[in-house]
Amino acid sequence: MNADIYTEFHRFLQREEKERLLEQRGMVIWLCGLSGSGKSTIANAAERVLHQQGRATVILDGDNMRAGLNVDLGFSDDHRLENIRRIAEVAKLFASQGIITLVSAITPRGELRDVARGILGEDFFEVYVKASYEACAARDVKGLYAKAAMGEVKHFTGKDSSFQEPMQADLVLDSENLTLEECVDHLLQATLLRRSR
Ligand code: ADX
Repeated sequence: MNADIYTEFHRFLQREEKERLLEQRGMVIWLCGLSGSGKSTIANAAERVLHQQGRATVILDGDNMRAGLNVDLGFSDDHRLENIRRIAEVAKLFASQGIITLVSAITPRGELRDVARGILGEDFFEVYVKASYEACAARDVKGLYAKAAMGEVKHFTGKDSSFQEPMQADLVLDSENLTLEECVDHLLQATLLRRSR
C-alpha cells in the first residue's frame, strides 16, 4: 500500500455495532466450482431462505460482477486473479458491515482461493459445488459447453483452462447427486454456527 494513504477504518462505526443492529454476524460464503455446477442457483435459493429468516444478505455473482466492476477482465490466469481479488475485496466490505455475503465464482485454482482466503481471513467459508465436467456439459444451461466443444470459447474452464479441485473446502456440495433443496439445507446448516450469535 502507498505510504501516503492513511486508512480511516478505526474512526468509523465498528463492525460490532453494525452486527448488533442486524442481529447477525457478517461472513462470506464462497461457492466455487465449474460453470454450470449450480453455484448461482444454490446461492439464489439459500439467499431466499435467509431473507425469509430476516437475514441481510447479498450475492456477488461472477457473471454479474463481470458485467460491471470487472467488465475490463477476461479469462486469462492474470485476469481471473484480478477478478477474484476484486470480488474478495468487495465481499470484505459487505462482511465488515455485518452482511451475509454469498459469492458465486468459478475460482478455478488453489492460488485464487488462497488470495480470497488471505483477503477475508476468518470470514471466508469455502464451499465446493462439485459436479463433473461431463455433468455440467450435459446440462449446459448457457450453451457454453457446446460452444467450447466447437472451439468458440477461449480459456474455457475445465477444457483449455484448468480447474483444480479444492482440497481444503469447509463444505463440499455434490450437486450432481443431491437435490437443490438438499444442497441449500447442507449449506445453511453448515454456516449456522458462524452466522448466529
Ligand atoms: S472465474 O474463473 O474468474 O472465477 P467467473 O465466475 O468470474 O470466473 O465467471 C465465470 C462465468 O463467465 C461463467 O459462469 C460463464 O457464464 C462465463 N464465461 C465466459 N467465458 C468463460 C470461460 N472461458 N471460462 C469460464 N466461464 C466463462
